[in-house]
Amino acid sequence: MRATGGQGRFLVLEGTEGVGKSTNLAFVRQWLEARGLDVVVTREPGGTPLAEEVRELLLAPREETVVPTAELLLIFAARAQHLAQVIEPALARGAWVLCDRFTDATYAYQGGGRGLDTGVIAQLETLVQGERRPDLTLVLDIEPAQGLARASRRGALDRFESEEIAFFERVRAAYRARAQAAPERYALVDAGLPLADVQAAIDAQLTVLLT
Ligand code: TMP
Repeated sequence: MRATGGQGRFLVLEGTEGVGKSTNLAFVRQWLEARGLDVVVTREPGGTPLAEEVRELLLAPREETVVPTAELLLIFAARAQHLAQVIEPALARGAWVLCDRFTDATYAYQGGGRGLDTGVIAQLETLVQGERRPDLTLVLDIEPAQGLARASRRGALDRFESEEIAFFERVRAAYRARAQAAPERYALVDAGLPLADVQAAIDAQLTVLLT
């Protein structure tokens, strides 16, 4: 296994529901593995047994209203565990970490979607992550209505997927704003294009990262 001189990278894939995250995650994984890199694929919320249990708590539809601050704290609790058990050890040994969602999802869903104060999210980010930030975040961008139509074909909707369209419009706007504010760390990919074009755009981003 080659690991670019022992220097692993932290890559994240983000986007609203039904944007094609799974297909493109598999594409990125194959792209990296084809170049001999040691790749750890993981996801948020989740990635460890405890964090996966927290994911189930978060996604399960329930009668009780989940207050946004409780949701936010559960997400960061899972993240603390995931970072300590999986992400940091992998990066320390020079592996590449490919994560299905990370803290940008918190800014987008809990900040944009739920309307929580992004200053509070930033405080928790510092508490839980210290200086750790992804090297590159690929934000797959699509009209929420188009993505939700795809997601609803997959079966029963989870607690987030059951939100109204306006929620996902706010989530999308937050993702776009974050990507546009720091183009050196984000790539905003038009996921409404044919898959070959989406993957050509991802290929170009990964090529830059590897050189
Ligand atoms: P997914 O990984 O299958 O897309 O589902 C995870 C859901 O959790 C998705 O609807 C977005 C939501 N989520 C948040 O609201 N905040 C977060 O920080 C993360 C990582 C996910």
